[in-house]
Amino acid sequence: MNPKLRIAVVGATGVVGREILGGLQELGHPASQLTALASERSEGEEVEYLDDSLEVEKADLDSFRGVNLALLAVPAAQAKMFAGAAQSAGAWVVDTSPAYRAQPEIPLALPGVNEAALDAPFKGRIVRVPSAPTAALAFAVNPLRQTFGVSQVHVAALLGASSQGTRGIAELERQTADLLSGRDPEAAAFPNRLGFNLIPQVGEFDGPWTSEELAVQAEAQQLWAGQGPAISTTALYAPTFYGCCLTVTAKLGRQASVEQLHAAWKGSATVKVLDVPAEKIYPMPMLVTADPAVHVGRVRLVPGAPEWVSFVVAMDNAGRGAALNALEVGARLAQKSA
Ligand SMILES: NC(=O)c1ccc[n+]([C@@H]2O[C@H](COP(=O)([O-])OP(=O)(O)OC[C@H]3O[C@@H](n4cnc5c(N)ncnc54)[C@H](OP(=O)(O)O)[C@@H]3O)[C@@H](O)[C@H]2O)c1
Repeated sequence: MNPKLRIAVVGATGVVGREILGGLQELGHPASQLTALASERSEGEEVEYLDDSLEVEKADLDSFRGVNLALLAVPAAQAKMFAGAAQSAGAWVVDTSPAYRAQPEIPLALPGVNEAALDAPFKGRIVRVPSAPTAALAFAVNPLRQTFGVSQVHVAALLGASSQGTRGIAELERQTADLLSGRDPEAAAFPNRLGFNLIPQVGEFDGPWTSEELAVQAEAQQLWAGQGPAISTTALYAPTFYGCCLTVTAKLGRQASVEQLHAAWKGSATVKVLDVPAEKIYPMPMLVTADPAVHVGRVRLVPGAPEWVSFVVAMDNAGRGAALNALEVGARLAQKSA
């Protein structure tokens, strides 16, 4: 990334925003100016950065003067407002929120899957990255699609509490403590109690599907330019704090052995194969925290269905699933023009 960039991170106090700051540190602070923005609730607070800290400023519509790259990690309503302001100020904008899900004219980009979307001309300076479950699925399925073809995919996506941000983490902590102490827990961030439970509802229902399930289907189609497999998704909240885990069953375009599947994934820069079940080596949320790789394992051929394969995927939802994608897309946009 160009070290002369002036970067604003909006939502710097949140789960994704902190990961973006962590990613910028990993890149060796590629910015001539870095502004950490959040709501007025956090104004004046400090967030850790390099060996020091950054003072958080309140984001407003004037926060983007002179900014080249705005990385947004705020709820959808705020993202729309700040994306518009940053774009008007001449910045490139990368949005991690669902704000532009219903606007196909806003490019959706995932590094290593469809960078070409950024090279083609598009109107405006706003680009979005997909939701974490879409990213995990696309990273894992893309190498299979390129090597064997994939026509159908069935996914169960289990999302930890941090997928609902700092509020989700605090709620699971509180509910766990309440339940262990014999108190009645309250549910606010999730549609039901998450402590010691699984909830098969992520987002609001739109007919029989939830908004998160529909987003995986729609975003995957957008990433693969309408040429992707048919996808059915069931999204659940799981009572873990960090990381998400997917079980995937896919129909390939032709038969493949487990070794050939491993080889396809090993050719991907983002995927790490963890598949030695006899030694208890397989993807788990606890292994992916702070790992930029997407873990794939438990690879099986489906008996009696020669073209079908099943596997498990795990990914750091806020790191690889949002912040790193935003940073990599932002770096590419910044190369287009300062
Ligand atoms: N968590 C994930 O795994 C994940 C993955 C992919 C995408 N996303 C998306 O990333 C975005 C951020 O999610 P998160 O999990 O990081 O949420 P979070 O932990 O709740 O953080 C939200 C951030 O937004 C800030 N914010 C809220 N209202 C604001 C306002 N009016 N003005 C300025 N800043 C405001 C908050 O600042 P204060 O601290 O001052 O309130 C905080 O920094 C969401 O759109 C989410 O859908 C999240």
